[in-house]
Amino acid sequence: MLFDSHTHFNNEDLTSLERQALFYSVDSAVKEGRMAGAVDIGFDLPSSEMAAEHAGTWPWCYAAVGCHPHDAKTMDEEKLERIRQLAAEEKVVAIGEIGLDFHYDLSDRDTQREWFRRQIRLANELMMPITIHAREADQEVMDILKEEGAFSEERKKHFGHAGVLLHCFSGSAELGKQYVKMGAYISVAGPVTYKNNRKTVAMVAAVPIERLLVETDAPYLTPVPFRGKRNTPLFVEYTARKVAEIKEMSFEETAAITRENAMRFYGISE
Ligand code: NI
Repeated sequence: MLFDSHTHFNNEDLTSLERQALFYSVDSAVKEGRMAGAVDIGFDLPSSEMAAEHAGTWPWCYAAVGCHPHDAKTMDEEKLERIRQLAAEEKVVAIGEIGLDFHYDLSDRDTQREWFRRQIRLANELMMPITIHAREADQEVMDILKEEGAFSEERKKHFGHAGVLLHCFSGSAELGKQYVKMGAYISVAGPVTYKNNRKTVAMVAAVPIERLLVETDAPYLTPVPFRGKRNTPLFVEYTARKVAEIKEMSFEETAAITRENAMRFYGISE
């Protein structure tokens, strides 16, 4: 049974019909015992509202609420307050996705930094896990996480780990190991299946399976052999198969361990 630790049923390019079809396909997989669940991840206020609504509708669906660095420019105090309210809902399990993206720079860097920090503080206040997006900003993301107390003893005592998840991690094996040592979890997405992605393969080999999660980031980052088609939470299977191959473990065992890791990270009980 697989758990997709990061997906976007809330993606604005999906028509409501397409979204419904997606929900029913995952629901069938859950009923057939192939999937255990998925977390719909917010990237701005409207998508966070949607994620919380989806989690309220489908028993196997959970939500994260927060503002992505791309959308940091849309944030203000009122929206942060609304995110705080949404975070209190029963099946909202994390603040995210938050972080820095210096590849696209869709919001200016100081705005990204400001709202990244504010949302880590919110997660600390509410004592909630955080889901991190980092692109071409590895060092600064780590510095800010440390400065804002994301790896505090208080958080570690509360969660039994730091409650920090590096989503679609593209950093080195060395950085992955460093994060794990600090109490973080690492999530692997479709790109690990891409030919020539030796960096992520080496990272997966270096990090203990007890700290790895699998995700789709659907509708993006479709794994091989479906690369080029629209991604769906069901394709998390192909990422898990690749992780199993790298770790020289069975697919079933890899699915079970990454599922348990995801549920432990998000504080979801069976
Ligand atoms: Ni995402």
